[in-house]
Amino acid sequence: MKTIKNQRLYVGMMAVALMTVTVLATSVSHTEFKPGEIWTDTNGVPINAHGGGILYYNKVYYWYVEIKTGKTRLPESNRSWGGTRVETVGVSCYSSQDLYNWKYEGNVLPALQDDPNHELYISKVLERPKVLYNRATKQFVMWMHIDSQDYALAHAGVATSDSPKGPFRYVGSFRPDGAMSRDMTVFMDEDGKAYLFHASEDNATMHISLLTDDYLKPAGRFVRVFEGRSMEAPAVFKHQGRYYLIASGCTGWAPNAARSAVAESIWGPWKELGNPCRGPDEEVTFRGQSTYIFAVADKPGTFILMADRWNQKDLSDSRYIWLPVTFTDNGFEVHWQASWRLEN
Ligand code: GAL
Repeated sequence: MKTIKNQRLYVGMMAVALMTVTVLATSVSHTEFKPGEIWTDTNGVPINAHGGGILYYNKVYYWYVEIKTGKTRLPESNRSWGGTRVETVGVSCYSSQDLYNWKYEGNVLPALQDDPNHELYISKVLERPKVLYNRATKQFVMWMHIDSQDYALAHAGVATSDSPKGPFRYVGSFRPDGAMSRDMTVFMDEDGKAYLFHASEDNATMHISLLTDDYLKPAGRFVRVFEGRSMEAPAVFKHQGRYYLIASGCTGWAPNAARSAVAESIWGPWKELGNPCRGPDEEVTFRGQSTYIFAVADKPGTFILMADRWNQKDLSDSRYIWLPVTFTDNGFEVHWQASWRLEN
């Protein structure tokens, strides 16, 4: 009897020791940003987080992202412009309190494996998810680019959840204000009003569309900006009463020179400021493409640009470029740094 007890104790102790070794071996605590390098989560697994956006809620940052995994293929319909794809898996959520170390919270809007007619079917497009918290309805509202594999549908999609960690319920998709919609972002102003910025009119002209107070639909008021400038990958932020935007040109996964712009009112006029990138590969946005800019909490005036460094031939190996924004007399710049930390 005693021997069996001792054996159980021994096996238990071994299990605890093994678990400790495993945890020690896999979890590395990060203390700086290293743009373009592989970035592991709190389980030691490479972060898989593309085209994403940040929500800061109750002292926690949530990072909502496209999952890019599996084999990269080039559908016949996209051959002329090199639009490679992986199967859609859904939207992952990561959480963090210090912005360096991210915990994987799961797939909060999974793609559907067995319904080819559904908009979230694995062969279709779900890109650039962004989440807002609506204080009045207490709902987390996700906006995203929803498309057919050949990008002809050009819709914006909406999903909602009661919790930042999901699960999100897919509401549906449409052409906002009846207009085509591909690359997009959402921006919430200080007064709680929210806006959808989206590449419209076959990506030639951007639209800025006011959302209804519940953030679920366009409210019916929109403007056309950067007419004929073919801008994608918009990211928007506000600093000292001014609205700023960064975007890319339209060259698919291949990087190009970023554009930036400033406006006194969200409705414009928007004045273009040129490429804000400074440093090696500045003419191709450090080999990246903008996806989001966010304000760091409790550090007034501190903003981080998030960009994707796409790997067109192996999308699952695409990387992240996070860099600080610096302000100049009339605009902003983003300087390359191989590694950096937030000031204390
Ligand atoms: C990019 C766009 C990405 C993705 C890609 C497809 O221009 O910004 O989000 O749609 O094209 O090739």
